[in-house]
Amino acid sequence: MSDTNKTATLTFDGKSFELPMHSPTAGPDVIDIRKLYGEAGVFTYDPGFTSTAACDSTITYIDGGKGELLHRGYPIDQLAEKSHYLEVCYLLLYGELPSAEQLEDFETRVTRHTMIHEQMINFFRGFRRDAHPMAVMVGVVGAMSAFYHDSTDVNDPWQREVASIRLIAKMPTIAAMAYKYTIGQPFVYPRNDCDYASNFLRMCFAVPAEDYEVNPILARAMDRIFTLHADHEQNASTSTVRLASSSGANPFACIAAGIACLWGPAHGGANQACLEMLREIGSPNRIPEYIERAKDKNDPFRLMGFGHRVYKNFDPRAKVMKQSADEVLDLLGIENNPTLQVAKELEAAALADPYFTEKKLFPNVDFYSGIILEAMGFPTSMFTPIFALSRTVGWVSQWKEMIADPAMKIGRPRQLYQGETMRDYVDIENR
Ligand code: ACO
Repeated sequence: MSDTNKTATLTFDGKSFELPMHSPTAGPDVIDIRKLYGEAGVFTYDPGFTSTAACDSTITYIDGGKGELLHRGYPIDQLAEKSHYLEVCYLLLYGELPSAEQLEDFETRVTRHTMIHEQMINFFRGFRRDAHPMAVMVGVVGAMSAFYHDSTDVNDPWQREVASIRLIAKMPTIAAMAYKYTIGQPFVYPRNDCDYASNFLRMCFAVPAEDYEVNPILARAMDRIFTLHADHEQNASTSTVRLASSSGANPFACIAAGIACLWGPAHGGANQACLEMLREIGSPNRIPEYIERAKDKNDPFRLMGFGHRVYKNFDPRAKVMKQSADEVLDLLGIENNPTLQVAKELEAAALADPYFTEKKLFPNVDFYSGIILEAMGFPTSMFTPIFALSRTVGWVSQWKEMIADPAMKIGRPRQLYQGETMRDYVDIENR
């Protein structure tokens, strides 16, 4: 954190308080209010943390106005085009692009940790068959704390490293098993001769009864989906992971908390909600009706896959995702896909409507990801688990950064209390 010579002055009740300011390497300056309560006796009020920086970070930078997303300085479109998921994982975790040797070593370490403890299979079998795979993931990832005791001591850097690799390596296996379990097929074990994305596709779609060849174009598209979701700064699930970890809780429990937060339809659940919405609209001639509903203040309906807390111009990931959707549908020979047709026309209709443009509501990454995943053969219930497995590296990188930070404190927000002041207990017969 670099100090500036600038200070901010807060004046109230005839008194002034000087607050230090800090300059980031990119983005707006921040006013340091850490001593505010001690010195001035007031809190700040910021529900949803729209104006609050809760940590220092060197991992990901977003300029929502410019539609810019950088991992360790590298733009996401360059990473999606030229790199691949495991290389991006290395970059997020360790801060620099790896040399060929470092990448090979990292890939080997991840590949050799993809199997899960065999006894965890019994844990899967305890779930109902119709459980949502996200419910299974929250449970199973939390349960990793009970299986990998040798990597739960957060004060040991080596254990933190082992936990990080385990989480990144095992998440595809867990997500694929959650899927296989809900459809009643045998679990497919990981294979070390497959790359990360191909391995996941294989574990989801192979069956013991026949050979399964992974289509390299689909593997590339899968890898791109992982890459585009790898990290996104201090979003709701990442902040959840940081807050849970700030108490010193073990990494598996904290990542399970992140998965729980991601599940919501305003966050990671939006890709499932978006595809369901596109299917419900069903045909381009019903688009005006849904646009009107989205604009109606008295209707809770929102256009899923539209709008973003930070991007107020365009979501750079959405551009790459749209291109990928075209490639995948073309490869699979899915022409005139009705969902894609509705998506394209809905996007055009919303972008031509002042309600959306004035509120700076543009398609986000989830608007097109569901179409690709559906074309690959995934049911909608798997969309959010795929997001969770992709985001695991982001959660883990942010967690590692936080634990290693000597300034780390337990997270403990304040409140603007609006309840009753102290009153005496009333006996039940007098109420
Ligand atoms: N459809 C219709 N109106 C919308 C939408 C939408 N998708 N999104 C925002 N608005 C409107 C709001 O009603 C509000 O209107 P008002 O100013 O008249 O009250 C205005 O735009 C601002 O919206 P907020 O909810 O205040 O914006 P916020 O930044 O808090 O919300 C969010 C961002 C949650 C993503 C929101 O746009 C949304 O619900 N979108 C749909 C869900 C979605 O796609 N989520 C995925 C996010 S990306 C991700 O997690 C990977």
